[in-house]
Amino acid sequence: MVERSGAPAERSRNLGGPWAERVERRLDEIRSAGRWRRYRDLDAHGPRGVLVEEDRKVVTFASNDYLGLSAHPAVAAAAHDAIDRWGTSAGGSRLITGARPIHADLEAELADWKGTERAVLFPTGFAANLGVLTALGSAGTRIVSDERNHASIIDGARLARADVDIWRHGDLDGLDELLAGDDRPTIVVADTVFSMDGDVLDVAAVASRCREAGALLVLDEAHAVLGPHPTEDDLAGVEVVRVGTLSKTLGSLGGFAACSGPVADLLVNVARSSIFTTALPPADAASALAALRILRGPEGEELIARLRHHVDRLRPGHPSPIVAVIVGDEDDAVAQAAHLLELGLHVPAIRPPTVAPGTSRLRITFCADHSDDEVDRLLAALARLGSDPNRAATEPAAPPSAQLGSDPNRAATEPAAPPSAHGWDPTPTVHPPR
Ligand SMILES: Cc1ncc(COP(=O)(O)O)c(C=O)c1O
Repeated sequence: MVERSGAPAERSRNLGGPWAERVERRLDEIRSAGRWRRYRDLDAHGPRGVLVEEDRKVVTFASNDYLGLSAHPAVAAAAHDAIDRWGTSAGGSRLITGARPIHADLEAELADWKGTERAVLFPTGFAANLGVLTALGSAGTRIVSDERNHASIIDGARLARADVDIWRHGDLDGLDELLAGDDRPTIVVADTVFSMDGDVLDVAAVASRCREAGALLVLDEAHAVLGPHPTEDDLAGVEVVRVGTLSKTLGSLGGFAACSGPVADLLVNVARSSIFTTALPPADAASALAALRILRGPEGEELIARLRHHVDRLRPGHPSPIVAVIVGDEDDAVAQAAHLLELGLHVPAIRPPTVAPGTSRLRITFCADHSDDEVDRLLAALARLGSDPNRAATEPAAPPSAQLGSDPNRAATEPAAPPSAHGWDPTPTVHPPR
């Protein structure tokens, strides 16, 4: 353990002046909006650990390590072996000196998994979205993006300097309208599992529209462990880039784009978030490869069945491991998360600006390595908060005043985001002209 002696203020003095004032003003705004955030150490291996500051044992329902592969002995052994062979760092960018055989091996397996000609690695999933959208989008092109896409897509679209049109979440007619009669080269981009709601994209329907419109389709499959798993038929005749991450289901770190050979060549040659950064550490690539081989084998099937079982206990048939229990009011959501924490259940409250005002929620993610007993404890605690797991997902939300607690089956349908409010980030989506 590193000794953390000396408060930061003793080590680095605030120098004052206009920048210090500016920063303080911004911090005051965040504080007074009740949106202060800070890191909290969780000393954990798998979903169980200790929240260090509180010295409290918890089970976390907030991890993206959906199959528990980060703690799998074969995955850890692959990382150890890679460190023994190549050291802890690639030592440079992939194009200069950082390429190791394990990178190409992993890319070949990822491409085979996704059914594409090639795959290209990036240091993170965030960097993959930045790289793909800036390599393919540019001034004179257009990016059509679902309003609830991940921040990395929003930022990638901005960086690309393409025109950006936002389509209302789940509104295929809206997508049709945006695609009709527009001659600009168009990229349609969407998460296939939306990370704050856990709902899924109708991939086949979106792909068929891209086919008709001649648009390129970028799918972000970061959370698609339970699906959707688009078939060859779903995607036939469409230029598709399938973005994924190694950091969630595969229990490692890194991102990738699975795509055609020419698109892969373009990414290698122009994607700045890969060219100007150090290649993925070999141990991360090796652990992701070991995890992917487990995922694709019989053990992977068992782990997925176990994850499915946990999700079904809270919300039968829900399509992803992310279950948003809508609370509504920000303070209520925070109070409920604090209550769960007292019971040793770590479930984050997600609030604006990450989600729309009035849709604050408990965001529960399940992992295959949760025990039945841990899931029992969570369900019992949610029930005591007033949740009814048997209420239909389509049932209208109770007015905020009538909300005794959370309903795990209440979908985050309200209120619809204005098309300009991409991802509920208050800054404009369209890149300003330069
Ligand atoms: C939908 C989606 N895309 C991309 C990312 C970024 O992936 P990474 O954590 O590998 O950078 C995330 C991370 O939370 C995500 O939820």
